[in-house]
Amino acid sequence: MKKTILITLLYAAAAVIPACKQPSPEQPEQKAEPTAVKELPADVYYPEGFRNWTHVKSMILEEGHPLYESFGGIHHLYANSEAMQGYRNGTFPDGSVIVFDLFHAVRADNAVTEGDRKVVGVMYKNAKAFSETGGWGFGGYKNLLGEKLDIDGKTACYNCHTAQKDKDFVFSSYRE
Ligand code: HEC
Repeated sequence: MKKTILITLLYAAAAVIPACKQPSPEQPEQKAEPTAVKELPADVYYPEGFRNWTHVKSMILEEGHPLYESFGGIHHLYANSEAMQGYRNGTFPDGSVIVFDLFHAVRADNAVTEGDRKVVGVMYKNAKAFSETGGWGFGGYKNLLGEKLDIDGKTACYNCHTAQKDKDFVFSSYRE
């Protein structure tokens, strides 16, 4: 009888001990992604991390170009994923951000290279917040530290971008 009890206890212990060593099989409950639409900022915000976005195109504006005074140099355009939808289907959804990253152009040894950064120009779509400027907020930053330039987006930017009203105020297009 005693032997039976002992064996039973041993079996019980063998069953319990490994179970104790195992991490709890219960996984922490997976939290579902919030379904509520995130409130978009109402102001043109600094486009943190834009250098990891999609490069849309680059262009050099030389002396003699009508926009040389303001935008002379080398610029690269970057689009976040929302803006890429717009480049692909023509309608830019709220949350779209396009960056105009402008550098001085340095000519030497038959090559044109990037000099110092001149400005980080930004277009940010929030139809409600920027209803007076085609749904886009226009802004500019001095550098990658996000120092904002004092720009009146309507007069300094939008008035020229209205030429592209049929393309949702965007000049550039994306090529594969
Ligand atoms: C006189 C006209 C003009 C003005 C003023 C102007 N832009 Fe543009 N902008 C352009 C043109 C032309 C392009 C296309 C450049 C290219 O294809 O590489 C452009 C492109 C852009 C883009 C990329 C998306 C697009 O439309 O292709 C951004 C972002 C942008 N501009 C921001 C600004 C901001 C911010 C201002 C004001 C500080 C501004 N722009 C003022 C003519 C203008």
